[in-house]
Amino acid sequence: MDPIENIPDNTRTMVTMIKVVALSGSLRKASSHTGLIRAGSLMVAAIELSKRAIEGMEIEYIEISELPMLNTDLENNGTYTPIIEAFRHKILQAHSILFASPEYNYSLTAPLKNAIDWASRPPNVWAGKAAAIVSAGYDEFGGGRAQYHLRQIGVYLDLHFINKPEFFLNAFQRPRKFNKDGDLIDEEANNKLKQVLLSLQELTLRLQGKKADPDSAQVLKSC
Ligand SMILES: Cc1cc2nc3c(=O)[nH]c(=O)nc-3n(C[C@H](O)[C@H](O)[C@H](O)COP(=O)(O)O)c2cc1C
Repeated sequence: MDPIENIPDNTRTMVTMIKVVALSGSLRKASSHTGLIRAGSLMVAAIELSKRAIEGMEIEYIEISELPMLNTDLENNGTYTPIIEAFRHKILQAHSILFASPEYNYSLTAPLKNAIDWASRPPNVWAGKAAAIVSAGYDEFGGGRAQYHLRQIGVYLDLHFINKPEFFLNAFQRPRKFNKDGDLIDEEANNKLKQVLLSLQELTLRLQGKKADPDSAQVLKSC
């Protein structure tokens, strides 16, 4: 039975469901960035069940490893090969985007830029969406330079990034933040990730002219 059915009527409110598409810029099997997305998705799934916090958000992880390298010869009068069409459709259908963006040589990774470029081709399917970025790197600014490059790209694409909280993680500092499979095992980072998701939810609803749950808004004021 749906656990929500068991909640007394007077504690239930109408919740607007937002769809978040999550992309990882790392193709590694044990990627910490894909791990951040997994943690975010599990958090939301657990939250749906336990009614702890973020209600009204569903996160879908989208693989980008199979996308061909961008080549406009693969376009035909505004149509694309099926794998690209499917990817673009997923982005179009989403209300907002969660980018888990590693930093490679002070910028975002080639696979992530490639995916972004495909969905930017006419019509640009990123336009008007809310977005958030999370990253882990080898210092305190963990992936920060890649994040700011991504924000710059977002100006042209008309993406609306949350400003706060920013999520940078030093993945190489002890105690370990991820296990060998790339799962997030750090409670503080997990809590921060939750704040990012709440902020993304709030901005997404604001862009749609709707209001977030006042409790969530209260939590965000303290970020
Ligand atoms: C080609 C390459 C370049 C990198 N450059 C940077 C960098 O400029 N800054 C940084 O913080 N980490 C850099 N790294 C480290 C990765 O960002 C780091 O290992 C990250 O955790 C990888 O993410 P993943 O676990 O999701 O694969 C680089 C790694 C590679 C493979």
